[in-house]
Amino acid sequence: MRTQAMAVLGLFVLAACPEKKPEGTPAPGQPAEAAPTPAPSSATDTIKFGEVGSLTGTEATFGKSTKDGIDLAVKELNEAGGIKGKKVEVVVYDDQSKPEEARTVVTRLITQDHVNVVLGEVASTNSLQMAPICQSNQVPMITPSSTNPKVTQQGDFIFRVCFIDPFQGQVMAKFARQNLKVNKVAVFKDQRSDYSIGLAEYFEREFKALGGEIVVEESYSKGDSDFKAQLTKIRAEKAEAIYVPGYYNDIGLIAKQSRQLGIKAPLLGGDGWESEKLFELGGSALDGCYYSNHYSTETPTPEIRRFIDHFKAAYGGTIPDSLAALGYDAAKVAADAMSRAKTLSGPDVRDAIAATKDFDGVTGRITIDKDRNAVKPAVILRIEGGKALYQTTIAP
Ligand code: PHE
Repeated sequence: MRTQAMAVLGLFVLAACPEKKPEGTPAPGQPAEAAPTPAPSSATDTIKFGEVGSLTGTEATFGKSTKDGIDLAVKELNEAGGIKGKKVEVVVYDDQSKPEEARTVVTRLITQDHVNVVLGEVASTNSLQMAPICQSNQVPMITPSSTNPKVTQQGDFIFRVCFIDPFQGQVMAKFARQNLKVNKVAVFKDQRSDYSIGLAEYFEREFKALGGEIVVEESYSKGDSDFKAQLTKIRAEKAEAIYVPGYYNDIGLIAKQSRQLGIKAPLLGGDGWESEKLFELGGSALDGCYYSNHYSTETPTPEIRRFIDHFKAAYGGTIPDSLAALGYDAAKVAADAMSRAKTLSGPDVRDAIAATKDFDGVTGRITIDKDRNAVKPAVILRIEGGKALYQTTIAP
């Protein structure tokens, strides 16, 4: 089992941290008694952060960015002496962007690797598969970025360091009504994503409450390649904006196809748009579109500035997206809780995470509320020329 975990570490973690020495067998020629065999070192010497991420598949940039953020946090933690005098080790598994796989690998993290905490997933549908398993094994789980409210409702061991979708939906509805002065909106959602279904509902509720009208609602399934039938129906209703709470992979194509059909209305979306790949896929079809997000690199608080500098230094100049920032924050919140926890048992770490108050994260000040969510502001970004430009911040 250990070999299997190390193989995964070798593949994903050591590759990113070339300076980290692999654990070797004792030097040849050492007498056996000179190396007294301690209890399995994995159980006592290190603290294990388990990570489940979409390192491949339709949402691959979500997993990759999150992993980079977590690795950077862990590198900093270890350089500062670790937690309670122990080094932190990350055991990461790829779920290939599939909910069933997320469930399988989180079980492995708990039963085989005996991790102290689980970090992940990004997509709410995947986190919803993992949460009941963490809950029933009393292993605390912190999702960096799943925003659907149901995730933390799975039990008192499940936390998040981001805001939730009732707020995120409200933010864009307000922005559309009050800033863009839009009256008629079409909604186009991914019917296989808990995130998309939830966010569409919260947006609609607020948009109507503010006097706006939802003129048409259509849906698609993640991974579809032709959206023209639904977009043609949307075009007929002459909406002034189209709310598309989906993931970047689909959004790029939806933007292109809507322009091909002559639709000029801007697309509006949520955090799921956040990816460098969005611009590759959507190109200029995305100009003038808006989405809500967790942070902007254009609003440099001291925490954001420091994070961007360190991240760029660690990853060849790459600018961290919000997934990286949230992954980093989740790992730091877990570490902070563990350093305060009475012991490293699941229930003690759980209590310490629940007591997190005014933690200065990259994505804002994090206080875990009674429902185990973080209450934080959202930013609105406008896309122009392949870049997401900061527009405004909306507080809860
Ligand atoms: N909030 C999305 C979800 O719950 C995931 C996500 C977060 C995607 C941040 C991109 C950026 O499914």
